[in-house]
Amino acid sequence: MLLAVFQLLCLLIILSVMLGTQLAEAKRPNIVFIITDDQDLHLDSLEYMPRVKKYLTNEGTIYKRHYCTVALCCPSRVNLWTGKAAHNTNVTDVVPPYGGYPKFVSQGYNTDYLPVWLQEAGYNTYYTGKLFNSHTIENYNNPVAGGFTGSDFLLDPYTYSYYNASFSRNGEKPISFTGQYSPDVVADKAFGFLEEAISDEKPFFLAIAPIAPHSDVQMGKLHFNEPKYAPRHAHLFKDYKIPRTKNFNPDKPSGANWIANLPQLNDTVIKYNDEFGRARLRALQSVDEMVEGIVQRLSDNGVLDDTYIFYTSDNGFHIGQHRMHPGKTCGYETDINIPLIVRGPGIGVGKVLDAVTSHTDLAPTLLKIAGAELRHDFDGLPIPFTEEQKGKTEHVNVEYWGRGIAEGKHGTEGGRFTIYANNTYKALRLIGDTYNLYYSVWCTNETELYDMTRDPEQMHNLAVPEQLSSEYRILGRGIKDITARLDTLMMVLKSCKASSCTDPWKVLHPQGDVSDLPSALKSGLDTFYEEQPKVSFSKCEPGYIVESEGPQVPFVFGQGASHGGFPLQDSSESQNPLEYGQDWSIWT
Ligand SMILES: *[C@@H]1O[C@H](CO)[C@@H](O)[C@H](O)[C@H]1NC(C)=O
Ligand SMILES: *[C@@H]1O[C@H](CO)[C@@H](O)[C@H](O)[C@H]1NC(C)=O
Ligand SMILES: *[C@@H]1O[C@H](CO)[C@@H](O)[C@H](O)[C@H]1NC(C)=O
Ligand SMILES: *[C@@H]1O[C@H](CO)[C@@H](O)[C@H](O)[C@H]1NC(C)=O
Ligand SMILES: *[C@@H]1O[C@H](CO)[C@@H](O)[C@H](O)[C@H]1NC(C)=O
Repeated sequence: MLLAVFQLLCLLIILSVMLGTQLAEAKRPNIVFIITDDQDLHLDSLEYMPRVKKYLTNEGTIYKRHYCTVALCCPSRVNLWTGKAAHNTNVTDVVPPYGGYPKFVSQGYNTDYLPVWLQEAGYNTYYTGKLFNSHTIENYNNPVAGGFTGSDFLLDPYTYSYYNASFSRNGEKPISFTGQYSPDVVADKAFGFLEEAISDEKPFFLAIAPIAPHSDVQMGKLHFNEPKYAPRHAHLFKDYKIPRTKNFNPDKPSGANWIANLPQLNDTVIKYNDEFGRARLRALQSVDEMVEGIVQRLSDNGVLDDTYIFYTSDNGFHIGQHRMHPGKTCGYETDINIPLIVRGPGIGVGKVLDAVTSHTDLAPTLLKIAGAELRHDFDGLPIPFTEEQKGKTEHVNVEYWGRGIAEGKHGTEGGRFTIYANNTYKALRLIGDTYNLYYSVWCTNETELYDMTRDPEQMHNLAVPEQLSSEYRILGRGIKDITARLDTLMMVLKSCKASSCTDPWKVLHPQGDVSDLPSALKSGLDTFYEEQPKVSFSKCEPGYIVESEGPQVPFVFGQGASHGGFPLQDSSESQNPLEYGQDWSIWT
């Protein structure tokens, strides 16, 4: 009798597991991924998008500490769609030889990135809008961007022409949309793909990439004008002004390198910049309306609850901070800390998460949602969906190669946009419960350290002697001790791969007894960190030229040498010690 009950129970369990798996398989979630272009978090753009607030922020979770890892469109998008740091993709610019669509293709990613993996996982995949820069009316079919069930790409040189866009649909000859408002055209195309996607039984991934609020750039003209908006939004936000934070056009110069040499902006320029900001908000209204259209269509078809909606941007934007003309390309918080809002199954409703996340984490996140296996060469980890899920770590690894660019009417010089040379740098954001730091090393060897707990606007560079008070303490330690740790961590991150990107302290301390800044500050480790090789550059390069990027490998604790470390041979062997098996169990 007991045995029979036991057998029956076993059978029931087996049956319910089988049924559960089948249900899970039948109900794999859909994903809608909206990515705007150059949208800020710090100029308050989200406050002016009521539908994003109503349908996404209030119904989902906003990630307040989400970062791009390169503050430039194409490198950032390649980072996003591959899950790999830019130093590993080596797509570091918007145009060849260092970047753009041709570089993405020649690096082999056109057959090895997120949409391809999602298709392999059984998804239908769709994309409309801008994929990458230098994806043009000439190279759109050479090759066609891989991995899409349906695609309708915006193409250069008309990508940023708000009223003269060119699109190629499913690899066909480009069609011109003269006189139509590009973000509205993208919205229409997105609605079309959504209908197609919903009518098929496979789960779907739909990426929507309107150009708003990027500057308007006309073919053959070498300036970035304020974005154009639809006439129906022209009356909006007449009172908006760029937030007058402490770093807005300050009386004393701030930042480092070319930024520290900028003249203060005069009233004419500031007035124009405020209008530039208004134009951005108006351009975003088309996207805001589209969000409502997407949510309504999902709801009308009964699939809203089975669909994740992501909302983010490729990089941030500054206007007037540190005296800068409108633009991106910098490591400052305005340029790297960007919107990320997610709603969907298992995502907290109306929550704000302060887990530190970056674009490197989104491809892993999306594959996890799709129930596909994570890839061993991912440089990031799936993001947590709720407060209870353990977040990743404390760091964001930021990189940039090449030039800074000034946008807007007053950012021109001799009839073209101003280019700032020597804008190659590495930066590190490190955020824990009791510390909030930014550290950067420029290709000129200048360094910056901001204690963003006390100085969120990044106005007091603690790395320059005038600011470096011997009294100043972070986590109870002096600037020198803090900097030694940050610099060594950067040494690991600047050439990291896979788990050495997600768990960099373990490279330095393989025993696993150091896992964050506070534990690295134990006083017994002072000599170990002081004697480390320092991050430096011998030259400012326009791309990732390893030979110009100084030492590549740190000392590892406990490996020989009297003080507990020695350099790991020469840099040609640098890859192996940094790569050890990816351990997905850290994320629960
Ligand atoms: C990155 O690409 C550039 C341009 O092709 C090349 O010169 C450079 O050596 C590459 N860097 C690495 C680390 O492969
Ligand atoms: C609009 O785009 C078409 C090609 O799609 C081009 O021939 C035309 O010159 C463009 N017009 C302007 C004003 O740039
Ligand atoms: C303000 O600055 C802009 C750009 O540098 C310059 O063109 C303009 O002449 C200046 N205006 C005044 C009133 O100084
Ligand atoms: C760029 O940096 C180098 C040092 O690496 C310096 O000699 C040069 O003057 C800088 N150029 C500009 C335009 O700032
Ligand atoms: C940066 O510092 C390193 C190490 O001291 C030195 O070799 C290099 O020449 C410096 N680079 C520049 C651009 O001054």
